[in-house]
Amino acid sequence: MSATHSTEHTRRDFLYVATGVAGAVGAAGAIWPFIDQMRPDASTRALASIQVDVSAVEPGMSLTVKWRGQPVFIRNRTEQEIEAARQVALEDLKDPIARNDNLPADAPATDIDRSAGEGRENWLVMIGICTHLGCVPLGQAGDFGGWFCPCHGSHYDTAGRVRKGPAPENMAVPTFEFISDTVVQIG
Ligand code: FES
Repeated sequence: MSATHSTEHTRRDFLYVATGVAGAVGAAGAIWPFIDQMRPDASTRALASIQVDVSAVEPGMSLTVKWRGQPVFIRNRTEQEIEAARQVALEDLKDPIARNDNLPADAPATDIDRSAGEGRENWLVMIGICTHLGCVPLGQAGDFGGWFCPCHGSHYDTAGRVRKGPAPENMAVPTFEFISDTVVQIG
């Protein structure tokens, strides 16, 4: 290996390490439409929890924030998207478990149990990581109008439940709560 090659290698390794999770995800081929909502003071803490203002997220839109080094999708679903998810029978789901940290571990993957719950069914909050090998899926995409992971072709529906492809589980719902009508606290 020439000296030039060696230098390039070192530089690439450095960039990889410096960009951490985002770099690793990028290297795997996914796109991370990242919008950082963290306040500067919050970033100096352990990031146990973050508060996100979702007042600008209209129905049909979503936001990606960073929490504990991971992307979190916050999506304001349209009536049609909610209805589409409700129409799906549990027996038709690849993973019938809600995977919602706010509910018992065996809660079923109904639409309401995947969402922020009664009165806030329009909101989905999920760790934005494909349960196959960890890529970041693309939103408003795929055969079911939810998310599509381009790494190996996993399709998620409008409740973030895996419907097709190699991913074994629904995308995980982290601990969160709405602390006002427009602010969600994650963690
Ligand atoms: S990592 Fe998403 S399909 Fe493989």
